Amino acid sequence: MKRLDKFLSEAKVASRKELKQLIRAGRVSVDGKTVTQEDLKINEDIAKVTLDGKPVAGRRIVTIMMNKPAGYLTAAEDKRDKTVMELVPEEYRKMNVMPIGRLDKATEGLLLLTNDGQLNHRLASPKHGVWKTYYAEHDGIVTAGDIRAFEKGLHLSDGLHCLPAKLEALEVGKSLIRVQEGKFHQVRRMMESRQMHVNYLKRLAEGEISLGDLPLGQCRELTEEELQLLE
Ligand code: URA
Repeated sequence: MKRLDKFLSEAKVASRKELKQLIRAGRVSVDGKTVTQEDLKINEDIAKVTLDGKPVAGRRIVTIMMNKPAGYLTAAEDKRDKTVMELVPEEYRKMNVMPIGRLDKATEGLLLLTNDGQLNHRLASPKHGVWKTYYAEHDGIVTAGDIRAFEKGLHLSDGLHCLPAKLEALEVGKSLIRVQEGKFHQVRRMMESRQMHVNYLKRLAEGEISLGDLPLGQCRELTEEELQLLE
């Protein structure tokens, strides 16, 4: 169920302010009946909404995940490089999904895309601070000092002050890294600052949303449970 004003606003028939006036003026009808209540709840899948007698098509809000391969830019378009949009199935591209945040060209893994502008804005905001989990293959060996330095919050020589993060060695040259922010090349720069050059980086999870076994280069819609985790 969805509020009538939200449905009309997503269908982009008018601005939010104009919508109120349109509804109050009795120009909108639902299932053949004129409505004047903007907070009326409608079933967007079956309700027949019209404005001045013309049907209004609802815009489906969709959020998908991609297992991004290396070599693709997180951008809507680029003159030189391939972009992640080339991997988004046509049906979602037509619905104008856009990446939430970004992964470097060389980084693989979980990338969320949505056509819900508010959700995108909220999740991409530095204030959101959801923990992101990365798997890295790197030179060098993780020491107790490295783990403590990550926990305290690294101060990089290029001036970046990082929030406390977690570093967990899985085996020599393979680690899990958890960070709450997403500055440019952040994980690579954090590891480099401890003399561990990253050769391979993959994002496994954002908060409680995990990539699971989604094949490289593929997309799928989030489940209802996953969508609730984003609330
Ligand atoms: N940190 C990086 O270095 N690269 C990414 O793509 C994401 C986090």
